Amino acid sequence: MNVLDIIENKKNCKELSKEEIEYFIKNYTSGEITDYQAAALIMAICINGMTQDEILDLTIAMANSGEVLDLSDISNNIVDKHSTGGVGDKVTLIVTPIIASLGVPVAKMSGRGLGITGGTIDKLESIPGYNTSLSIEEFKQNIKDIGISLIGQTMNLAPADKKIYALRDSIGCTKSIPLIASSIMSKKIAAGANAIVLDVTCGNGAFMKNKEEAKKLAKMMSLIGKWANRKTVCVLTNMEEPLGYAVGNSLEVIEAVKALKGDMPEDVKEVIVKIATEMLNLADEKSTSSENKKKVLEVINNGKAYEKFKELVEKQGGDVSYIENTEKFERAPIIAPVLSEKDGYVEELNAEKVGKAGLELGIGRMRKEDSIDSRLGILFEKKIGDKVKKGDVLAYVHAGSPEKANECVNKILSAYKIGSRKEIKKNIIEVI
Ligand code: URA
Repeated sequence: MNVLDIIENKKNCKELSKEEIEYFIKNYTSGEITDYQAAALIMAICINGMTQDEILDLTIAMANSGEVLDLSDISNNIVDKHSTGGVGDKVTLIVTPIIASLGVPVAKMSGRGLGITGGTIDKLESIPGYNTSLSIEEFKQNIKDIGISLIGQTMNLAPADKKIYALRDSIGCTKSIPLIASSIMSKKIAAGANAIVLDVTCGNGAFMKNKEEAKKLAKMMSLIGKWANRKTVCVLTNMEEPLGYAVGNSLEVIEAVKALKGDMPEDVKEVIVKIATEMLNLADEKSTSSENKKKVLEVINNGKAYEKFKELVEKQGGDVSYIENTEKFERAPIIAPVLSEKDGYVEELNAEKVGKAGLELGIGRMRKEDSIDSRLGILFEKKIGDKVKKGDVLAYVHAGSPEKANECVNKILSAYKIGSRKEIKKNIIEVI
């Protein structure tokens, strides 16, 4: 077998065999297959798609490219969550301590930013000292000790996904149902949780631009979950505008800390409560949604979720004083306002345009080797449905230089549509 034949087959829309998929994953993970050969195959998959069987084979091959954790010595009731990606998506930072503070263990492996979407690992790394690259033993020990661990893909879990994920980001192959489904589910299977809640984002700021596409992706991931014997629920959420008021790594951590203390924007609250409730429903199938929702709100209000987040940060080497006093996070050198040019209501705050502006600003990576500046980002003052007057501040851009600030201010302004209609956004679209 050789990689050129595999590329040729996919280029000609042929179904790849299990052996061909396993050969590619094995040899790309080991470095035998080069980045440019892998890029050609990934591009062909992105353009020509994959059958259900190919997607299953790809997911399993990727999950088996490293260790597949068995966490049964800790619990048979470990839940995980994952998002298909969004702009301002800080859900993991808030939801996972909520769940862990309720005694349900959380074992989560997160990703870095992909395309215009942010990554939990980049956000966590904005906390000085937070170590996202634990060994498998440390990961397991943390779950045993404090009921939660949030790590990146630095250890030997789904290493094929780590390589393919970074490659896709740098060759414009992020939007693809087979690649997203296999990427997410291989990580979830390898990390060992028994149940998984998937936040399938839908809208201009997500990879799936409409409900039909989002449902297709959700159904594919549920099928893989079923096949792998993991209880899986998909929550379709709105990504037409950024989630919450902050976009950018440390700015989002600050917003998440506030949320854990009970100060949550409405859209964040709705998504958090829904996803956390679904995670608890899966953890105990005899419990009811209304009981679980009550529990979620309780641990936010009594501070237990916030305390659990601090415990997590401390356990993974992070400086907790930044969580206790978020003023300690270093601010960007330039903070520039975006001013409304007219009176009216915010009818649109286009998440895709915000994501692209953020990427240019330096929140995410243009090339896989790029480093990122965690201070950069955008803080919104006005969102869909808000009334504004000419001259009101719509947002603040946190930039590294006056030139970058100017560029971003104009882009953010163009993401807003101010009109006469007062829109009401639906945050939860469907549960599958
Ligand atoms: N999250 C992932 O882990 N992979 C994707 O492809 C998209 C979002």
